[in-house]
This record gives sequence, structure tokens and C-alpha cells, in this order.
Amino acid sequence: MAQAERKLDEVPESTTVVVIGAGPAGLTVASLLRRCGVDSIVLERRSRQHVAQRQRAGIVESRAVRMFASWGLADLVLGGPPHDGILEFRVDGKSHLVDDSDGSEGPGARLCPQQVLVQKLTATHLADGGEVRYETADITLHDLTGDRPTVSYRSADGTVHTITCAFVAGCDGEHGVTRAAVPDGHLTAHTFDHGIGWLTVLADAPPPAHPLLAVSPHGFAAHFPRGPHSSRYYLQCPPDDHPGAWPDSRVWDALRTRLADPALTAGPITDRETFRLRSLVHDPMQYGRLYLVGDAAHIVSPMGGKGMNLALYDADLLARAVRDHVQHHDDTGLRTYSERCLRRVWSDQEFSHWLTRTVHDAGDDTHCGPFLRNLARARLDRLFTSQTAAQAFAELMTGLDPAQDHPAATGR
Ligand code: APR
Repeated sequence: MAQAERKLDEVPESTTVVVIGAGPAGLTVASLLRRCGVDSIVLERRSRQHVAQRQRAGIVESRAVRMFASWGLADLVLGGPPHDGILEFRVDGKSHLVDDSDGSEGPGARLCPQQVLVQKLTATHLADGGEVRYETADITLHDLTGDRPTVSYRSADGTVHTITCAFVAGCDGEHGVTRAAVPDGHLTAHTFDHGIGWLTVLADAPPPAHPLLAVSPHGFAAHFPRGPHSSRYYLQCPPDDHPGAWPDSRVWDALRTRLADPALTAGPITDRETFRLRSLVHDPMQYGRLYLVGDAAHIVSPMGGKGMNLALYDADLLARAVRDHVQHHDDTGLRTYSERCLRRVWSDQEFSHWLTRTVHDAGDDTHCGPFLRNLARARLDRLFTSQTAAQAFAELMTGLDPAQDHPAATGR
């Protein structure tokens, strides 16, 4: 664009952290930094209204609830009812209630839909004097390996802005610009594709008594709460399937069959999409002064509800690491950020993989064969009958498995 058409701002702005992306990861990083007096500027591509209505995850695990509580934010940013700690597995129509709270002291998980968390984080951050700039475009990162990176972007009125900072938090999700700014050869991408497709449906229909995972010879199905009058459903489908192949009647017939609930109450379907169950981890999660957070660094299949909770975990570690750098000139947290995040990422990837294989192989075994089906059935039988297995499962569901909590992660 000719120089005359570009309205260059006069003096580059400066802040400690430029956060790119205003989803769960970005707003959590910015909010925690604000709470410890570290300034940041959040740059978001979409409008505030668009981001506030994006419905994805639906549970904030116990560990994340306690993390927010430790920052004095839990009552401000968490909505939805407490999770009663009961998960229902329905195997060929037979119900098995599993305790997925580990019985430890302290607040438990919350059935807080992602959009509620994002809305509350945004309102809290802005009320705290935080700054979020929406509808920014053409974000580019410069000098990431120097001491003062710069971020330039175009605001909605066409003005080009430049911000110098000490750190850039890449919170822009799987398809953002920050990870793409890392030169080739610095990041290793580890990927896995389960060869399984899911249709996910959002409907104004009554939520289940407990989050429900159903194993059936017709394929996997799930029913989760997304508010007092809203539900999210999942249906296993061919990996290359598309939403158009699933008219309402087919969706409700399949759910009633696989959930073994002929009387399941239907409701208006408000969202419908298909995707493949896959996982992706980028290692390391940092490059120079750029730190990748949440989906920008890793993607996990929805089994076990770990996607958003991993974003919250990364955000907590990064906020504390930047605080220690700014206030105590201690770079230990920054230096070990990637290693500590990846330890939990791989643990949650393993748990999600285990649960994904178990509930799919145990049901429709056309893609895995009878041997793996029997292994999966044995895993379910162990989970339903062994207290030790149930305790290990609960620790992983809560995110409170002690092996993952590094001393630095709990230091205040
Ligand atoms: N510039 C600025 N903002 C961007 C850009 C860009 N180039 N690209 C993406 N974004 C914004 C998106 O509009 C979105 O608001 O970054 C944000 C990324 O948010 P998420 O994709 O929600 O990722 P994250 O914050 O890591 O949260 C992970 O979100 O998508 C779910 O299932 C996922 O539950 C998980 C959670």
C-alpha cells in the first residue's frame, strides 16, 4: 500500500506483554498479569460480540477452578453450576456412574461453558483497567529473538499501529499468526489422527443429569450440559462425513439409539459441525520472546474436556513466569515454561487418547476389530469395578494428578 495511504501512528506504543487472541488463553493471560500489576495489550481479530458467543468447551476442571481461586478471580470469572463429580458411562444401555472428583479438599469442577468464561474474563479484565483491541488485522511480529520485540497491526479504521514489548503471548488458536511467525526448523509438530469423525450438535434441549458417554455397537455418542436449557451432543461418524448428511431426524434417531433412550427430549438444533478426532503438539512452546499458549501450541481431542483446561494451565504458568521476571528478575519460569507445559500437555494427551480409544473401540469395532474391542471392554470393566482404577481416573479428570504439579507451579 502506498505510504500516503497508510496512516502511520507517530510514536510506537509500549507495553510489557502483547497478547494475541482474546479467547480463553489470551484473556486468562491478560487477566492474571493485570492481577499482579503487569500491563498488557490484547489484540483480537474478531469483534467482541463474535468472540463472546463462540461455544466450545463446557467444563472448567477442579485444578483450573483452584487456579482462578488462588488469583482471587474464581467468583468473578466462573459461571455455571458446580459439577456434581459424577460421570455416567452407558454401555449397551447399562448405566455405570463413575465418581470423577478425587475427593480432595477445595472447590471442584464447574460446568462453565466456554463463552461464559470468556464473557466474564473480558468484563473483569476491562473493569480492572485492562485493554482489549478488537477487529485488528494484519498482525505481524518482529525481532522475536531480541529484547524488545514489536507487533504491528492495522486497526478497523485502517491505521497501522506498532507496539514494542518485552514478550508476546501467542494465544491465537490453531490457525493464528504467532506460531506461523516462528522460522522453519524451530518447532517440531507431533500429530495423531484417530481415523474417527464426530458430528457435534448444539441444541436447546434439556441437559443430562450427569455428563454422559455412551458405548454402543452403532457407535459412540455423548450428551453434555451447556447451560440450564442447552445441551451439546457428539455422534461418532465417518471421518470424512459432513453436517449435511445429518438432518435433525437422523440426529435424534441416532442419539436415541446410541444413548439407549427412546424418550430422549429433542429441541431446536442451533449448531451442527463435523470434525476429525486428532491431536497436535508443538515442541517447544516458545521462540525467543514469543510464548505459545493453548490451542496455538496444542490441540487435543474433546474426550475428557482437556482443551480449554490446558489453555488455562499454560496461561497460569506464563503469567507467573512474566511476573517473576518483571518483579523479581527471576527467569526460571520463562526458561522452563515449555518443559513444564508440555509435561501436562502429554499427560492430558495420553488420558484423552486412552479415553477416546476405550469408548470407541468398545462399541463399534468395525475399525478396530474384536481384539481391541475386548481390550477396551476390559478397561471399562476395570474402571467400573476397581477403586484404584476409579481413583486414578478421577485424578486425571480433575487435573489434580500430583505428578503434574511442579513446585514452581504452586509457588505464590
Ligand atoms: N489475530 C488476532 N486474533 C486472532 C488471530 C489473528 N491472526 N487468529 C485467531 N485469533 C483469535 C481468534 O479469533 C480467537 O478469539 O484468537 C483466539 C483464539 O481462541 P481459541 O481458538 O478459543 O483458543 P484458546 O484461547 O487457546 O482456547 C482453547 O478454545 O477453541 C477452543 O476447543 C478449544 O476449548 C479450547 C479453547
